[in-house]
Amino acid sequence: MTDGTKILMCPPHHYDVDYVINPWMEGNIHRSSRERAEEQWNKLHHVLKNHATVELVAPQPGWPDMVFAANAGLVLGQNVVLSRFLHPERQGEEPFFQAWFEAHGFTVHTLPESLPFEGAGDALLDRAGGWLWAGYGFRSELDSHPYLAEWLDVEVLSLRLVDSRFYHLDTCFCPLTDGYLMYYPPAFDAYSNRLIELRVAEEKRIVIDEVDAINFACNAVNVGQVVVMNKASDQLRQVLADRGFVVEETPLTEFLKAGGAAKCLTLKTTEPRQVSPKTSTIQSRVIHLEGHLLDSGIVNRALDTIVTGGGSFQVLSFDLGKQRQDSSMAEVKVSAPDASVMDDIMGQLIDLGAVSLPREVTAATLETVIQDGVAPDDFYVTTIYPTEVLIGDHWFKVQGQRMDGAIAVTRNPAGSAGPESGAVARCKLLRDLKAGEEVVVGSQGIHTLRKAPSLKKTDDFSFMGAGVSSERRVELVVEQIAWDLRRIRDRGGKVIVTAGPVVIHTGGSEHLKTLIRDGYVHALLGGNAIAVHDIEQSMMGTSLGMDMKRGVSVQGGHRHHLKAINTIRRYGSIANAVAAGALTSGVMYECVTNNVPFSLAGSIRDDGPLPDTKMNLIEAQADYARLIEGADLILMLSTMLHSIGVGNMTPAGVKMVCVDINPAVVTKLSDRGSVESTGVVTDVGLFLSLLVQQLAKLTGQYASVG
Ligand SMILES: NC(=O)c1ccc[n+]([C@@H]2O[C@H](COP(=O)([O-])OP(=O)(O)OC[C@H]3O[C@@H](n4cnc5c(N)ncnc54)[C@H](O)[C@@H]3O)[C@@H](O)[C@H]2O)c1
Repeated sequence: MTDGTKILMCPPHHYDVDYVINPWMEGNIHRSSRERAEEQWNKLHHVLKNHATVELVAPQPGWPDMVFAANAGLVLGQNVVLSRFLHPERQGEEPFFQAWFEAHGFTVHTLPESLPFEGAGDALLDRAGGWLWAGYGFRSELDSHPYLAEWLDVEVLSLRLVDSRFYHLDTCFCPLTDGYLMYYPPAFDAYSNRLIELRVAEEKRIVIDEVDAINFACNAVNVGQVVVMNKASDQLRQVLADRGFVVEETPLTEFLKAGGAAKCLTLKTTEPRQVSPKTSTIQSRVIHLEGHLLDSGIVNRALDTIVTGGGSFQVLSFDLGKQRQDSSMAEVKVSAPDASVMDDIMGQLIDLGAVSLPREVTAATLETVIQDGVAPDDFYVTTIYPTEVLIGDHWFKVQGQRMDGAIAVTRNPAGSAGPESGAVARCKLLRDLKAGEEVVVGSQGIHTLRKAPSLKKTDDFSFMGAGVSSERRVELVVEQIAWDLRRIRDRGGKVIVTAGPVVIHTGGSEHLKTLIRDGYVHALLGGNAIAVHDIEQSMMGTSLGMDMKRGVSVQGGHRHHLKAINTIRRYGSIANAVAAGALTSGVMYECVTNNVPFSLAGSIRDDGPLPDTKMNLIEAQADYARLIEGADLILMLSTMLHSIGVGNMTPAGVKMVCVDINPAVVTKLSDRGSVESTGVVTDVGLFLSLLVQQLAKLTGQYASVG
């Protein structure tokens, strides 16, 4: 008995596994038996004839996969979207299927040649809602989906496939009568699984396990209450029976060797139209990337970002520079299943330096802050890279660049001439936002420059590269840092040191003092501890109660640091203690006497604290930011807390050298994705001693040259 359903099949006379275009075919070339394949196909044909009218398309020599008629195209009503096969091995099937559809009165729509879409293999109608589930990720391109929506006048929901064994949607997803859905969730990304759960009520979802999935249970033909498949576990059979379905098994093992089963072997040509709005939420944008794209790995990261973010891409052009130093350019079309996924992806691509093509660029979207210190939900989060925003039709450089801020825009500030000429865009921390001011939201009209302009070509820091040095390379790296410090000092540049108390415990203070005295340090940033331990050492010869000369603990020494704090508190500040002659040596003493500004930021661990330690952290952050401004190099010496704090407020283009004994800390600190940061895994005392020695050598060389 049939219900008017018509199914198209293609006899397997030329079927074989002749090539490998999916994981199932691997190891199966010419391993299928034509005879058994004919037998299995005939049996399926016979089973289906009991439930539907089966029509045949003539098989063609040389096109062994034509037997998988599901990939002929996608039918809805009298319209067909003809397949555009991804692999050349199947592209020759297209004209034969087209001829069949045309001969049977269908209106055939053909996609652009470069846009793969593999028919009903990757597009399945929901049996209750009337919308179309469309797969992408392996064979069909996401960009084909808007064409389906348009030509078939149907709502399209895009699902991303992530397991190459389930390369077509119909291998892991099977909509059934009355809105049931049999599917294998691990074959889809998280976003797609969420979409499925939003659309299909829990009681309608039939989740299958891996064993049924690899037996191609989802690759089933459903007519009414009958579900025809290769094989079902007892459990699946029962689950389906409980929902009123009857499973008819028919072995299709010969076709499994090519990655197909019942559904792949058939195409329903009677798909009644249901009323559903013609929509597709798919978004596309073309981005432009420029720079040392291969060396820096930016292209790989950009493409990974798109795919892991749930989108898809098409590389439209890639122009590799001719010489090693030339920059390369790429144009990539990014597609995403909806606007929010696109925004997330674009946000990350912008951080990698991607720019939307000029023709696609639209001005940045601004939203008004309605509560002091709180940004609109979708605010753009800034990075360390120089950023520009498009306001009206002018690009404005964002001022005060730092990471983790919002971009606040003031239009027509007092005294400005025209509507755009006076806009000011500025990085602001959330806490500094004021109700009524406008903030950039989303990812439109934003452009970051990956290569910071302040990195001059002559400042060749590249041999250190961005990375972490092992002990083996420490001496080499120190040579380079010494060279750089010397040049920055000599041209009147600015070097900042952040230092933790370990510098004192490891005997590094002698060397840090030398650096300060010799004019290599232009501001010192740290916490209470570096100052306390330094002052303890200079007043009592101990650091945390240890005699620094003899390396043994001194009786009652654990109180020394509190006594040191107490003395400074009596004088009201470190500078006062120096002026009064109470503090006569040490790192802090050198800062005071050499006019090197310092800032001590408080923390919950602090004893005392010293009167100079800023316990109001917002003030401390502002003070750090003020001192960092205009820095050329920051030397981060064994303090995770203060170094990370400093890293977060420093724009790209400032060189950073992070020294710590713990590789994990160094990696974290130097992982800013910018070439100008480097990590040195070593003892900080040793590092400082090598650095000072190397600087002395350079001075000798300079002297002898001079
Ligand atoms: N008495 C005090 O007031 C007191 C004492 C200690 C810390 N603190 C405060 O606590 C906060 C955090 O202190 P912190 O910066 O010392 O701790 P931190 O954990 O931020 O950093 C210490 C770092 O030093 C590294 N390190 C340890 N030995 C090393 C060596 N020999 N060579 C190179 N690196 C080495 C560690 O791996 C670690 O990353 C600061 O604000 C500090 O002022 C206060």
